[in-house]
Amino acid sequence: MNPSTGSGLFITLEGGEGAGKTTQMNRLRAWWESRGREVLVTRQPGGTPLAEEIRELLLGERGESVDDLTELLLMFAARAQFLSALVRPALARGVVVLCDRFTDSTWAYQGGGRGVDSDHIAALESLVHGDLQPDLTLLLDLPVEAGLERAGKRGAADRIEQEDRDFFDRVRRAYLEQAAAHPERFAVVDAAADPDSVWEAIRDVLEERFTP
Ligand code: TMP
Repeated sequence: MNPSTGSGLFITLEGGEGAGKTTQMNRLRAWWESRGREVLVTRQPGGTPLAEEIRELLLGERGESVDDLTELLLMFAARAQFLSALVRPALARGVVVLCDRFTDSTWAYQGGGRGVDSDHIAALESLVHGDLQPDLTLLLDLPVEAGLERAGKRGAADRIEQEDRDFFDRVRRAYLEQAAAHPERFAVVDAAADPDSVWEAIRDVLEERFTP
């Protein structure tokens, strides 16, 4: 058992644009529910009323450019509320918390994409979640070109999704670096395949890690 998440489980889903997180999240939920576990599906930034308001601030279009440090601090402000009001109590009750994005997104987007100093991210990570880390992080990895094409078909992009191709190359690279640095926590799944094959790969990881 991961001492930081107690009797619950904290599983995060990560990936760039168009990686298919939503589809796989629905299957993850069904897999855990079929095993009799109470499941909470949530997202970052967001998950509580205040954190969802911060999400609006972060992702909405506005008439001024957003400073990188402001963006970083708002991400962590939303995360602090999300952890104390939602995630820690759920984990203490034994719930399986499935979260669409978490701090690895900050390493990828603010660290890799924006080039924010990693010392700043590490300091905020330590302040905001201390030793709490996901039990498992599933990284849906996809070449940037393919992801942007899929995301483009979906319609309106948020403020961060409007960045250019180089930004998303840096995001992908930073994700893969995070995965390489924390192999005990990460499973990298090839998201270029069709959704059924991606799910089969995820299910293999779940069975290997969580079935007695
Ligand atoms: P999404 O969850 O709908 O994909 O949108 C969230 C957006 O916020 C996405 O563009 C990635 C971005 N994001 C960051 O830049 N840093 C973070 O720490 C998180 C959680 C999300």
